[in-house]
Amino acid sequence: GTAARDGEPRSGGPADSPFVRACRREPGPHTPVWFMRQAGRSLPEYREIRANVPMLESCRRPDLVTEITLQPVRRHGVDAAILFSDIVVPVAAAGIDLDIVPGTGPVVAEPVRTAVDVERINPIGRDDVSYVDEAVRLLVAELGDTPLIGFAGAPFTLASYMVEGGPSRTHAKTKALMYGDPELWHALCARLAEVTLAFLRVQVDAGVSAVQLFDSWAGALSEADYRRYVLPHSAHVLAGLNEAGVPRIHFGVGTAELLGAMGEAGADVVGVDWRTPLDVATRRIGPDRAVQGNLDPAVLLAPWEVVEGQVRRILDQGRAAPGHVFNLGHGVLPETDPEVLTRVVALVHELSARPAA
Ligand code: CP3
Repeated sequence: GTAARDGEPRSGGPADSPFVRACRREPGPHTPVWFMRQAGRSLPEYREIRANVPMLESCRRPDLVTEITLQPVRRHGVDAAILFSDIVVPVAAAGIDLDIVPGTGPVVAEPVRTAVDVERINPIGRDDVSYVDEAVRLLVAELGDTPLIGFAGAPFTLASYMVEGGPSRTHAKTKALMYGDPELWHALCARLAEVTLAFLRVQVDAGVSAVQLFDSWAGALSEADYRRYVLPHSAHVLAGLNEAGVPRIHFGVGTAELLGAMGEAGADVVGVDWRTPLDVATRRIGPDRAVQGNLDPAVLLAPWEVVEGQVRRILDQGRAAPGHVFNLGHGVLPETDPEVLTRVVALVHELSARPAA
């Protein structure tokens, strides 16, 4: 940063931003806010740019990735950008034939169910995802003091898509493999963990200020099974970033019973969905980690008075945590009015503003 003038706070770039400070449990000027799926279908400018470009292709074009990632930053004034990509991008780069089908999600041509299938998941390096490396570098240059969040899917959530062949409500085939052939299960998760770690390292090396590990579907498991079948693999990913020095956010949905374990896996920040109040979550997670969350995305469809009340409640409950990053409990719903998102950002900033020291 440049030398501080008298009375002016020193600008330390994204590492000194309200978002990164909250992740590190350091005080800041206000509670930072960003939204999962802030780049996406709630924005008309996103729908326009994506009109004739398939999802995976858009993730492989650095010009489009850069523009789409910046759209919600410009529009909403959020405290962080999240890289536009998808959790299946590195798995496709690892050699698995898959597509992202509009309205459905990831669909895998030949589901992964045998030892031979697991061998089809190749290790990846920077050259396999050079478009991500390039997009992150372009974004870091554009964003200035605004931090960029990198991300990847956690082994369990990726394994579910690979084994089921697509989205699943019950994760039945995934669990059948996990319980029926634990050795194969661990081999699959170990492969996916290496792909995820390599993908995150590319993003860190290119300059992201934080990473989020999405284990969206981990809430399908009991705590005992999570600890036995999943935690070691996610912990391997998170520990592999120890030297990187960037905050690690660990997120899942329906994880009330798993919050402690997800923190222990090696997170600096634990993502919480709307089912668990942040003060309760903080008791489960402990004093050594910040929390992120946790407005129900459906509340954004309610009258503004309701939204405002819920935002106030979440900020109050978040004061119990040693650090709070405001977010939704899951991704923005496509039918959300983007003006409501912009108002939420302003409201969070206004209600949480702390006088300069
Ligand atoms: O703004 C952001 O959060 C960054 C972009 C992002 C996308 N996917 C873009 C996307 C992120 C972080 C993801 C992660 C992701 N992808 C997860 C974990 C987060 C979560 O929501 O739990 C999961 C489970 C996926 C798999 C996936 N990809 C699903 C379930 C879907 C939705 C399918 C649909 O059409 O309803 C996708 C597609 C996808 N990923 C879209 C976007 C913007 C929609 C694609 C489109 O515009 O047609």
